[in-house]
Amino acid sequence: MTAINEVGDLTIEGDVGVLTLNSPPVNALSAPVRTAINDGIKAAIDNPAVKAIVLICDGKTFIAGADITEFGKAPSGPSLFDAQAMIENAPKPVIAAIHGTALGGGLEVALTCHYRVAVPSAKCGLPEVNLGLLPGAGGTQRLPRIVGAQKAVEMVTVGTHVGAKACKEMGLVDELVEEGKLREGAIAFANKIVAEKRPLKKVRDLNDKVEADRGHPEIFANFRKANARKFRGFLAPEYNIQCIEAAVNLPFDDGIKVEQKLFRELVTGTQSAAQRHVFFAERQVWKLPDVPADTPTIPVARVGVIGAGTMGGGISMNFLNAGIPVTIVETKQEALDRGIATIRKNYENTAKKGRLTQDDVEKRMALLTGTLALEDLADSDLVIEAVFENMEIKKDIFGKLDRIVKQGAILATNTSALNIDEIATAVKRPEAVIGLHFFSPANVMRLLEVVRADKTSKPVIATSMQIAKKIGKIAALVGVCPGFVGNRILAQRQREAQKLILEGAMPWDVDRVLYDFGFPMGPFAMSDLAGLDIGWSKEKSTGSTIREVLCEMDRRGQKTGSGFYDYDENRNAKPSPVVEKIILDFAAKQGINRRTISDQEILERCVYPMINEGAKILEEGKAIRASDIDIVWINGYGWPVYRGGPMFYGDTVGLDKVLAKMKEFQAQMGDDFKPSALLEKLVAEGKKFQSL
Ligand code: 3HC
Repeated sequence: MTAINEVGDLTIEGDVGVLTLNSPPVNALSAPVRTAINDGIKAAIDNPAVKAIVLICDGKTFIAGADITEFGKAPSGPSLFDAQAMIENAPKPVIAAIHGTALGGGLEVALTCHYRVAVPSAKCGLPEVNLGLLPGAGGTQRLPRIVGAQKAVEMVTVGTHVGAKACKEMGLVDELVEEGKLREGAIAFANKIVAEKRPLKKVRDLNDKVEADRGHPEIFANFRKANARKFRGFLAPEYNIQCIEAAVNLPFDDGIKVEQKLFRELVTGTQSAAQRHVFFAERQVWKLPDVPADTPTIPVARVGVIGAGTMGGGISMNFLNAGIPVTIVETKQEALDRGIATIRKNYENTAKKGRLTQDDVEKRMALLTGTLALEDLADSDLVIEAVFENMEIKKDIFGKLDRIVKQGAILATNTSALNIDEIATAVKRPEAVIGLHFFSPANVMRLLEVVRADKTSKPVIATSMQIAKKIGKIAALVGVCPGFVGNRILAQRQREAQKLILEGAMPWDVDRVLYDFGFPMGPFAMSDLAGLDIGWSKEKSTGSTIREVLCEMDRRGQKTGSGFYDYDENRNAKPSPVVEKIILDFAAKQGINRRTISDQEILERCVYPMINEGAKILEEGKAIRASDIDIVWINGYGWPVYRGGPMFYGDTVGLDKVLAKMKEFQAQMGDDFKPSALLEKLVAEGKKFQSL
């Protein structure tokens, strides 16, 4: 064995030189890995005993891509192109031996090899789009030469990981080898190539597929049209499509030039910076400074859910999906039956769409037990209370749970508004109490706010995070404060949206600005969708807000055909002259001199106070890090991924600019805009949230 450098070595096995890379955790293409490939292949070429070369990786995976942490830093060592050219131009066959995932630059390296073998569990893909990028090492030019333009645009704009068997069918992989025997299989394959004197196949020279697609611009036009909604606001999908078009229409080397140019634009832009930030934020969020990874956890084999309403039902489905039995409790048989029937209906609908089999539906339903007796939760390892937001009722339930549920179990509340420290006073074991704040619909939304109360124990926190992962959520650990992290920040935007429509904007102006910013919908359209009458009652209505007036007029949102907007029979929204008049009357009554409000002001008024509130949350220690707040807003409130979350967006705009604007607004409109001490401090020190 010859060491090439600290991450690569070359072993000669008969006629075959085996170049092994070992750079944990994922063999990303850092400078040492590129050097190992470049120098290792060269050493094998120079060694007269070697007739074929196998490129293989140690550890859990083949190369998972470029080293994302290197982006934005000065390049060093051989470029990826140098290393690829060394492989592709080798006078001896080079075979990529793939296990785990060959992703991004990893697959692009494999595509410069003359042959590829893989174990059946391996996956290949070009997921750069999810980092706001495109495959910048020839991937967009080589992939369509194997799979054709249609399949290629699908793969690069979605970033799917394709299983080895499907790769074999598509021609991306030449041969499957036995699971667990990759090395032996790859060497045997290499010997076969040599014995059969097979040619040095270069993907760049395969032109049949792209020539067949030439003169068919409808492939791209149709694809763009079909995905316009999904790609809205994102640059990378369109750039990826343009590269595949270039592969179809231009000679290989010219296509590479297009790819290079567009890659450079993306990698230096703010969208990719934001999406890379999110990639790392999603991994950071699980790491809790004072709850180490080896904290003991509580096995959760049975879950109890209190309340079979929309929330309780959705919460239960998460556990049923993960194969964990659930006992669901209601106070009345009718409500229980209705709740269980809704769960079944949801599953049946999924089955109708072909995403579940009827067998899966029955298996899930078989894990669900309904009861009217709280006593039936005695054996639960985790109980989640999801009744309506009333402190007295919740405390009463927790008092009962304390007497009923076995010691060591977790007692969780799904409250989105109440003080969990106070709920915990109802039990003799406050260390067992935690908030698990699901977002509606709870079986769909990815976010879970895990709310740590004053006395919550570390094993209870660690278990909650672990169970969140198990049910496919992304969990952020937050502290007790009004609205926790997500709704506390939302309240800032809601307040400004309401003020703006009295001062001069219309609901559709505010909605348009936030939609164009990248939210799936604006706050008023959102209210119409959710129903304006949430928390409203005729008896208590005083007609003192626009929302109350609309409810009194039976304009309660989409479900009644009108709310802030008028809706046609297909639920298309139209600005409403009635609402316009109500707003004008309201403003007149309050003596407000309406003025023209610019789109820029709408955006800054809605978004900067959110950033400022995020800073207060950090100051008070209610979130661990700024990127956790970003995770909450991206996964719970539709913040556009390509803007990286509110805190990252603040950094992108420049915290000095945000602060200056907040001060200007404060001078004009008062202390709703009072800058947080942390924001002031960061600006004074020239720092960003990311540097905290
Ligand atoms: N660069 C740098 N670090 C990376 C990385 C990469 N490409 N991929 C993963 N890591 C790090 C993670 O940040 C994590 O670090 P941590 O332990 O300190 O938090 C560690 O490796 C393990 O990653 P995961 O926790 O994600 O491990 P999993 O086993 O769950 O998943 C994976 C493995 C499927 C490879 C997943 O990490 C992944 O999807 N990685 C990104 C793949 C990718 O997007 N590749 C394209 C990169 S861009 C590119 O190649 C450009 C080229 O075209 C020029």
